[in-house]
Amino acid sequence: HTVGLVLAPFSGGQPRGGVEHGPNQLLENGLAKQLRALGWTVEGDGPDAMPDFESLRPAKELVHGILKNPLFVSRVTQKIHELVKKTCAEGKVALTLGGDHSIGMGTVSGSAAVHDNLGVIWVDAHADINTADTTESGNLHGCPMSFVMGIGPKVEAFSWLKPCLRPSRIVYIGLRDVDQGEKRILRENGIKAFSMHEVDKYGIGRVMELAIAHLGADCPIHLSFDVDALDPSVAPATGTPVRGGLSFREGHYICESIFETGRLVSMDIMEVNPQLGADHASLVQTIQVGCSLVRSALGETLL
Ligand code: ARG
Ligand code: MN
Ligand code: MN
Ligand code: MN
Repeated sequence: HTVGLVLAPFSGGQPRGGVEHGPNQLLENGLAKQLRALGWTVEGDGPDAMPDFESLRPAKELVHGILKNPLFVSRVTQKIHELVKKTCAEGKVALTLGGDHSIGMGTVSGSAAVHDNLGVIWVDAHADINTADTTESGNLHGCPMSFVMGIGPKVEAFSWLKPCLRPSRIVYIGLRDVDQGEKRILRENGIKAFSMHEVDKYGIGRVMELAIAHLGADCPIHLSFDVDALDPSVAPATGTPVRGGLSFREGHYICESIFETGRLVSMDIMEVNPQLGADHASLVQTIQVGCSLVRSALGETLL
């Protein structure tokens, strides 16, 4: 019953500063203590635990089309991959605190390296499945899923990242801002996705039944939660907010129902940016929501 924290103070997958302070803020808010109160042993929150990824910034970047910082993102996500893999191999739940969502390249691949038949539940306003060819922004936080699937052109900087996730092992929840090229990738690969339309239509209870059924009855589950899946009124302090998102309860229900499966092996909480949001209150609100989502996924119940 151990959670291994993987701290990922990294913003190189997108242009906005501040998201690198997400892990520190989540810990400052008492996340580790809150998980201990739920009965978990928590490792990795010691005083010197925060890594400094600046040392991994290359003196000279590689160029691949419009991709920004490919080598920097590659080096950092490879490091995250090793940490998540080690944590999972020790039989612990790997809990990665981001940081931007490019880190998903490391967390999904690290967990999949240990857990056969891993199912990924990706909760996000965005599909993050652009390739080097389809990305319009060049931001790698919009690309982790295609990279772990091994679709799209090979990017030299990422030679360490081997395809490790089949399309049938993915379920999306909360989508509402998907690029044209991404829509085609989702369609062509038959990837299961519950956009906000389906959340409205079926309700979150039915969506979770269908999501878990899609992955199958006994697979290990990785939950990657981008806080921008939540409505901006619930989680304002994030880099790419999109209106019309999940309610506070819908977000927590997702986490609670994954806990109930007893099969959560790894989780990410991503894109908390304490420097965004209109005021101090919106940052506190977002950090508190981030912590409570993690608690729900790790067994906090309402009764
Ligand atoms: N689809 C857009 C892009 O490729 C936005 C991605 C936003 N991703 C995120 N992890 N917040 O740039
Ligand atoms: Mn900073
Ligand atoms: Mn997003
Ligand atoms: Mn995302």
